Order: sequence, then C-alpha cells, then structure tokens
Amino acid sequence: MTISFKDRVAIVTGAGGGLGRAYALELARRGAKVVVNDLGGARDGTGHSDAALKVVAEIEAAGGEAMSNGGSVTEYEQMVEMVAKAKERWGGVHILINNAGVLRDKSFAKMEPADFRFVVDVHLNGSANCTKAVWDTMREQAYGRILMTASSTGLYGNFGQANYGAAKLGLAGLTKTLNLEGAKYNVRVNTIAPVAGTRMTEDLFPPEAFKAFAPENVVPAALYLVSEDAPSNMIIGAGAGAFHAAYVTMTPGVLLPESERTPEGIAAHWAEITDRSGEIVPQSGGEQSMAILKLLQGG
Ligand code: NAI
Repeated sequence: MTISFKDRVAIVTGAGGGLGRAYALELARRGAKVVVNDLGGARDGTGHSDAALKVVAEIEAAGGEAMSNGGSVTEYEQMVEMVAKAKERWGGVHILINNAGVLRDKSFAKMEPADFRFVVDVHLNGSANCTKAVWDTMREQAYGRILMTASSTGLYGNFGQANYGAAKLGLAGLTKTLNLEGAKYNVRVNTIAPVAGTRMTEDLFPPEAFKAFAPENVVPAALYLVSEDAPSNMIIGAGAGAFHAAYVTMTPGVLLPESERTPEGIAAHWAEITDRSGEIVPQSGGEQSMAILKLLQGG
C-alpha cells in the first residue's frame, strides 16, 4: 500500500537543510502541501538566510506545492501567523514536524546559563510553540499528526550536550502527555530520534559514514509517523537504514515492609528494585500509581 499525503498540509520546522529539507521534499513528492519553515541561521542559531526559499524552489521545480516561512520557532506569535497563512491558502494543517534545532555544545562546567537556556528554548519551547499554534486547528479538524525530534543525547546522554539532552528528553515527555490529550481528537504524537549526516554532525562522522547516514535514510520513519495510519506515543530511532524503538519502562519493583523503608532497606533490596524481568511500559503516569496499588494489594 502506498502512503500518500495528497490533500494534506504539512509544516516542517527547520526545513531549510538537513533532515527537515529531506522530510519536506518527500512529503511534497507524495502530495502534501508543505510549509518550509526555517530562519536560516548558523548551527549555533545565529544569523539568517533564505534557506527556506531554496527548498520551496526545489519542491516547486519538482512539481510540488510549498510555501516558505522565515519565522523563528522561539517566537510564538510568528508560529501563530505561520499557521494562519497555511490555513488561509490551503484550508488546514494536518501534519507538524518539529525539527528545528541548534547546538551550543560545551561541558556543563563551561556552559553558560544563557547557552543552556537558548538551546532549551529552540528545541523544547520552540516545539511547544509550534504545537500550540496548530493544536486547536488539529482538534477542530479531528485530525493531526505531530512529530517531535528527540535525540540519542536526550534518551541516553552525551558528553558536552547537557542543554541539548535536557531539551531532547523534554520533547519525549511532551509527546507522552500530548498523546493522551490528543487521542480523543485523532491527534497522534510521536518522537523520532534520528542519526544523520548533516551540518549538525559534519564534524563527528568520517566521510564514508556521513554518506551512509544520509538524511534520506531517516525520512521513511518520519513520514510513517505522520501518516494516516501512524501509531501514537512511540519513540523511534532511525539512521542509515536501521530503525528501532525506545521505551520508558518500569520494573515490577518490591514492596518493602515498614521496618525496611530506610535507605539501608533500599540498599539491601537494590537488585530486586532494579531487576528488569517483567518490566512494563506504562502508557500514562497514572499507571505508576496503579502498579503501586497492585503491589499493596499483594499482586
Ligand atoms: P540542521 O542544522 O541541518 O537543521 C536544523 C535547522 O533548524 C537549520 O536549518 C536551522 O536553520 C533551523 N533552525 C534553527 N533554529 C531555528 C529557529 N529558531 N526557527 C526555525 N528554524 C530554526 O541539522 P539536522 O541534523 O538536520 O537537525 C534536525 C533536527 O534533528 C534537530 O532538531 C536536531 O537536533 C535533530 N537531530 C539530529 C541528529 C543528527 O544526527 N543529525 C541527531 C539527533 C537529533
């Protein structure tokens, strides 16, 4: 079965290059009308360029339909305006890929609070801004597909990226609650953790790996996650043609008798507390409380 995006309107943030551009091109090729958002800054978020216009030209040259937007995801009003323009021209917004991002890497010891805030602002608040800007529209349409962009740094950590990692895991958290709030309105929300050779990673990959990790190899997962039959609440990793899922799990744990509810009791039972056999993937925060109640009831 071919996955088509005909008559869908998609917004891709940070689509002036790298992964965002690859998503925008393939969405358009499969029939979507695409808002190509990008302020066209440098990797650290400074400056501006017409990166978005160039991608629109590429889409149009290939026979697709697109509109450029040079707004910053950090400016909520600009995102509201972007959504209004898309609706005015195409009547709705069905897909949002929150992809815009910047890096200001430094060990935490050397990181200025301003660089921490800036990176969190672009990734986490930026994605919340764009999502908020489309949220009511998607609810009213009873249709929405939203993709957040996390990273292995957010899920697992990476030296020198405390700001970036905090923002990226925050996005997986945002996904989980929006999944619950959107379900009733057919709004599905997922997270992708890509690995791709782009300007963000150009100094990390050796040249052969850079080629293997072409952004185009992440596109299939991203597009599936915003398609009509997309799942919801998933965290999917993708890079170089490999695809996997990541989960936030909970071990069965133990119920300690009152006499052992001490730090020493925790130390004594550490192996059982952290034993992963029989772990579950809670679908909401409430499931943690339910699991505790079950233990209290002896089950
Ligand atoms: P990229 O640097 O090519 O793309 C990011 C784009 O976001 C740039 O075109 C930039 O101008 C734009 N942007 C930055 N600040 C913006 C703002 N305030 N408003 C609008 N646009 C803005 O890098 P890449 O690799 O394509 O990154 C895309 C996303 O994937 C980012 O969120 C990144 O953190 C994430 N990611 C990438 C990985 C990789 O291996 N390349 C690994 C994990 C996550």
